[in-house]
Amino acid sequence: MNKLVSWSEEDEAVAATNSDATECKRGAVELGYWSDPYVRLFSRPRAERRAPEIHRGYYARVRAVEMFIHQFLERCDSKCQVLNLGCGFDTLFWRLRDVTQAVGNFIELDFPTVTAKKCQIIKRNKQLLEKITNEDGEVAIRAGGADLHADGYHLCGVDLRDEPGVLRALTAAGARPDAPTLVLAECVLVYLREDAANRLLRLLAQQFPKQVLVVYEQCNLDDKFGEVMIRNLVARGCGEVGARHMDAPGAAAGRLLAAGYDAAKGWDMDTVWRSLSEEERARVEALEPLDERELLQQLHAHYALTVASRGDLFADIDLNA
Ligand SMILES: C[S@@+](CC[C@H](N)C(=O)[O-])C[C@H]1O[C@@H](n2cnc3c(N)ncnc32)[C@H](O)[C@@H]1O
Repeated sequence: MNKLVSWSEEDEAVAATNSDATECKRGAVELGYWSDPYVRLFSRPRAERRAPEIHRGYYARVRAVEMFIHQFLERCDSKCQVLNLGCGFDTLFWRLRDVTQAVGNFIELDFPTVTAKKCQIIKRNKQLLEKITNEDGEVAIRAGGADLHADGYHLCGVDLRDEPGVLRALTAAGARPDAPTLVLAECVLVYLREDAANRLLRLLAQQFPKQVLVVYEQCNLDDKFGEVMIRNLVARGCGEVGARHMDAPGAAAGRLLAAGYDAAKGWDMDTVWRSLSEEERARVEALEPLDERELLQQLHAHYALTVASRGDLFADIDLNA
């Protein structure tokens, strides 16, 4: 563990949110929401089935992130890099490897307790390992088992509140400031206090001048529904729900501009959901009956996708662009 930030029970609870995310994703994949041949390798099946609105929420989240990944890849003028913050057991590296050679380097950061488990799972599974090994099959596991370095894939254990630690991890992972860079923060910044999240965003804005940042997290929490969400978040170890989660997505975009990004936009997930084609929504809606349509709308209204960019290359990135 790094020396600047000490590990607490709260951090333990935050790291555990990864298991929940992975299990929910697996449940949705098994019901046919989207395809992911790797997620089952990272989780056990859930004893009880999650509610349909949870699966639909995850579908919208995965699709929204995917939409912007594709826009980013289309605009890259050279081999790019992806930086997955608070990656948990996300399988994106393997899913992308199956469809594109455009990603030169994929870097994942999370608490060492989480990356150590991810390292173990990767080491045990041929299906995962064969996608990250070079021709000589070389994979280096370091930092007491919490870091894994291979050609084009780096998994590093670090506390995102520890800026020098993050910079060291980026260096160890071979991150290049000149490469087109996609930074993903899916349900992670909410677990950092406001000042730590802002410091991390400023550092990233500075480090990568050709960049797209995609943030998925809570918004509009300043109402009755939001109060319940805040209680749940606090119970799960979120130390402080910051002002940016109370505000509408537009305000979160303003904060990214203040952190040093050149352009930023945000949408609540209801808007993102409605931006999908009618056919796509009809396919997903046919998977499971949904009794509580209003509940899904409420959920979608309290999550936002915010996308920011640095540099001209990505200036026109937009919902439905
Ligand atoms: C809800 S999970 C999301 C995982 C993944 N991004 C996804 O969407 O499936 C939140 C992740 O952020 C990580 N995380 C939260 N705070 C962190 C911190 N200060 N440093 C490193 N990782 C952190 C947790 O360990 C956990 O894996």
